[in-house]
Amino acid sequence: MITGLSHVSIVVPNLEEAARELEKKYGLKVGPAQINEQQGVRMAYVELANAKIELMEPLRADSPVGKFLQRNPHGGIHHLSLRVDSVQATVAAIEHKGARVLGDATQKNVHGARIAFVHPHDFLGALVELEEHQN
Ligand code: CO
Repeated sequence: MITGLSHVSIVVPNLEEAARELEKKYGLKVGPAQINEQQGVRMAYVELANAKIELMEPLRADSPVGKFLQRNPHGGIHHLSLRVDSVQATVAAIEHKGARVLGDATQKNVHGARIAFVHPHDFLGALVELEEHQN
């Protein structure tokens, strides 16, 4: 079951420049950068009251996020992430209704939470990440 919004994810060409801009123009504080080798990205987060903004900078041009940046050289919204109580149960329920889920259901994010991605064709054209939060 979908229970809320976890984050909106934006691909940026340069994490430090993006952080400076968000701080200078909007007073937003960007947390420390973390590397996700598996996805080939450096990531950092802005913590808001009810959700986060995720910034992703590709480490490699041939990674999925690197290819996104080639198509969108100034960056752009990459996915939105919805909180679910159980990835496994939610994936089973939406697949039953014809939604396609990308990859296997054993993926985890940098925080160790279970995640899965819904095919954009099955969510109004948007790439949607399902992220497990048990509370
Ligand atoms: Co995400």
